Amino acid sequence: MARVVVTHQIPQAALALLRAAHDVDSWEGQDAPSREVVLRRVSGADAVVTMVTDRVDQEFLGAAGSQLRAVCNVAVGYDNIDVAACRERGVVATNTPGVLTEATADTAFALVLMATRRLGEAERVVRSGKPWTWGMSVLLGMGLQGRTIGIVGPGQIGIATARRAKAFGMEVVYAGRSPMAAQAQAQLAAARVDLPELLATADVVSLHCPLIPAGAPDSTYHLIDAEALSAMRDTAYLINTARGPVVDEAALVEALRTGQIAGAGLDVFEEEPRVHPGLLELDNVVLLPHVGSATVQTREGMATLAARNALAVLAGEGALTLVG
Ligand code: DGY
Repeated sequence: MARVVVTHQIPQAALALLRAAHDVDSWEGQDAPSREVVLRRVSGADAVVTMVTDRVDQEFLGAAGSQLRAVCNVAVGYDNIDVAACRERGVVATNTPGVLTEATADTAFALVLMATRRLGEAERVVRSGKPWTWGMSVLLGMGLQGRTIGIVGPGQIGIATARRAKAFGMEVVYAGRSPMAAQAQAQLAAARVDLPELLATADVVSLHCPLIPAGAPDSTYHLIDAEALSAMRDTAYLINTARGPVVDEAALVEALRTGQIAGAGLDVFEEEPRVHPGLLELDNVVLLPHVGSATVQTREGMATLAARNALAVLAGEGALTLVG
């Protein structure tokens, strides 16, 4: 039996899979464990099931020890993992693509609707208890029919978001390192453009690219910076369900404050769980606490896939969804 450490709480179905084959150290606390506790617990592990909030770096890998064989992230994004360090130490790193596509696209499109129709602001009006009444010009937003959504990163989640946009009568353009899958591109009648053109023409810019650190080839760190924001229409909206550091948050605060863009919807932040204080003061931005994939079914699917990855590696088989 191998020793598997699960750093945070995960659904019972995934734990049961692991427990059927291995000695499992699970985390039953309601609160997230501190870094110190995680580093102590991973010592001697053969496989670790990690979350996006775990930084899997040299310190983590060193604390685990040289017997470690797998780091199985319960997330599609893996910018929290130093993949090169894992490779150097012969540790397999895995993620959970596919199972969270629809849930995350639902959240992205919910943000599109919330931002363009000012629904967060509208809800705050009702909750404030102040008098309100129906009015011709009260809380007017932007209709989506005939508008253009610009998908940055045409992977599975980008495509699923574009499908929702299409159903709302939007045109689809996209930018990315690779072309969109041919069938989806045809179904969506999606036009591939470069990022400057997308920024200049889209009414809604929705980010779905991975976070690639500054300095690395094809880096996406601060892809949306002051210059990119100034290239957007002053009637346009920015939606981010990818990773916080893809957007320069300070520049975004400025663009929202000065009306350089009309609004934004964010599920991710540069230094989670910290949110730039400037964003908290603004009405034209919707703020969610990284809940893109937060449905019961999706979280069970993610944790189960991570568990199956750990089982496969420990059994000497190839990982189902290898990263890097
Ligand atoms: C992911 O899967 O990368 C999400 O951000 C975590 O829900």
